[in-house]
Amino acid sequence: MHGTALTASTPASPGSGLFSASPSRHLLGLEGVSRDEILELIESAARYREKMRSRQLPTGELRGVTVCNAFFEDSTRTRVSFELAEQGLGALITSFHTGASSVSKGETLLDTLRVIASMRVDLFVVRHSSSGAASYLARHLKAGVINAGDGRHEHPTQGLLDLMTLHQAWKGRFEDRRAVIVGDIAHSRVARSAIFGLTALGVEITLAGPATLMPAEIESLGCSVAARVEDAMRGADAVMTLRIQKERMEGGLLPSLNEYSREWGITAARVALMKPEAVVLHPGPMNRGVEITPEVADGARSVIFDQVENGVAIRCAVLERCARAVKGERA
Ligand code: CP
Repeated sequence: MHGTALTASTPASPGSGLFSASPSRHLLGLEGVSRDEILELIESAARYREKMRSRQLPTGELRGVTVCNAFFEDSTRTRVSFELAEQGLGALITSFHTGASSVSKGETLLDTLRVIASMRVDLFVVRHSSSGAASYLARHLKAGVINAGDGRHEHPTQGLLDLMTLHQAWKGRFEDRRAVIVGDIAHSRVARSAIFGLTALGVEITLAGPATLMPAEIESLGCSVAARVEDAMRGADAVMTLRIQKERMEGGLLPSLNEYSREWGITAARVALMKPEAVVLHPGPMNRGVEITPEVADGARSVIFDQVENGVAIRCAVLERCARAVKGERA
């Protein structure tokens, strides 16, 4: 695995990069993925976004490819956007949810997906609460695996859609840009994928948040850490605030939501410290009034719903790339 892990939970993964040597049927993380690979995907996604907007989907890139969306954790944006992307590219799709499956009868994760793979599934889109679940499945299944979020490890398509949204907001220029990530960095797969992707594109990153929610090895990632959110946001080109996971309070890592909001919440006054054209991102789901005020979430600098639209386009681009590898291996 390339680079440095944020937490001890980071798993080893086969070809952890995206399409490192040749187009791969897997997408497990953004760690080790090159600038050129990221920009190529963003360009492909931009073409899909135009097709979506002009109602030119479905196309046929995934005709003859069967995809299973295997979600072992709740999701709105990721699951729906993958389904739309798969349908938009002409795949045969099936969706699997833990609650309505034989997992509740004790079947293991691997056996469950082996059963589905035997039904000639070519690609799995997997969300799981365990870091490393996607890599584990990629090692044991012949099908391609796209990581839709594994524990605290990575959420690579979220990272790519964030980069695509910044590419749009920054008119394609990543050089001399600085992005701020605020909140629970230590437990966030979204932050990890964003850090790997932004670093590959040469963007300077400042992190801000309670000390209890900062990973121990942060400096080895090449990010700087600000003591106050105001220090982080002053002069920045973008801020991404993360969802506060309320269960962290029970673990004693957060004193109270009110205090978090007062110290680290993204308010209009704090947004005004950034550059005039700077933008506000949030991966969702949002806790309005906690990590972000409704005024900012719905304000002129918010690109939160652009992120959602770009999510479908990025997933089209990733699926097309992975499906091309699957078809190539069949030939
Ligand atoms: N950003 C994100 O992963 O949202 P969902 O949990 O709704 O998929």
